[in-house]
Amino acid sequence: MNIILLGPPGGGKGTQAQFLIEHHGMRQISTGDLLRAAAKKKSPLGLEVEKYMKAGKLVPDDVINNVMKEALEEGNDGRGLILDGYPRTVQQAKTLDQMVKLMNVSVDHVINFNLSDKEVIRRLSGRRQCRECKVGYHIQFAPPKKEGICDRCGSELFQRSDDKIEVIQERLRVYHEKNDKLVDYYRSSGKLREISGEGSTGDIYKKVEGILGLSQ
Ligand code: AP5
Repeated sequence: MNIILLGPPGGGKGTQAQFLIEHHGMRQISTGDLLRAAAKKKSPLGLEVEKYMKAGKLVPDDVINNVMKEALEEGNDGRGLILDGYPRTVQQAKTLDQMVKLMNVSVDHVINFNLSDKEVIRRLSGRRQCRECKVGYHIQFAPPKKEGICDRCGSELFQRSDDKIEVIQERLRVYHEKNDKLVDYYRSSGKLREISGEGSTGDIYKKVEGILGLSQ
């Protein structure tokens, strides 16, 4: 089963993907993680995309479509894919349709998390992430046992540079500009399910499992 998670920045896509990986062995492709890894390595791709990410803008469609094509070709090992952060525009969604058709795979479910801008800002301004194993935390809602240290691997936690308030506001502006058309695109495909992204992570996860038919 292959799925797409849609929603605003900080909407909980990465958090819910993590649960699906732990409980059901699915595989996540996060375009944000791929781009950050490229930026960290200062690869040609990284140097090209860093300025967009730091400003809270979307990376151009042709660039991100190539990133996704490569990731899909490498990642399609039958474990079930979670696309997190892609697509974000109708153009990307149409390209994805072509890519999966050529690979003879399908997108089975599209889940859209809805939450208010106020909640997005609250979440992103408190988010921390492990430098090594990438597990996500929140200083208020999901704090590590020891401040600044990852519970799982003991590495340092950091705050993303695009989680500063002025960049969060730009990310939200871009999200509102693009998302309605993207959601309409998937609504017309009949695969879209909308759920509230507010509430406890466990309650939201139960709804996600229910939609995917994975409830125990
Ligand atoms: P990306 O890394 O994909 O960022 P994003 O979409 O803005 O999403 P986030 O990772 O910020 O949020 P999330 O929904 O995963 O939330 P999380 O679970 O971490 O993209 C970064 C940039 O890359 C983009 O701005 C763009 O420049 C570029 N890019 C990427 N993909 C692209 C594309 N397709 N096209 C063009 N450009 C692209 O949760 C957030 C926090 O809230 C955490 O601290 C978490 O612990 C907490 N939390 C989660 N759920 C709950 C809950 N239920 N209650 C309380 N707290 C919660």
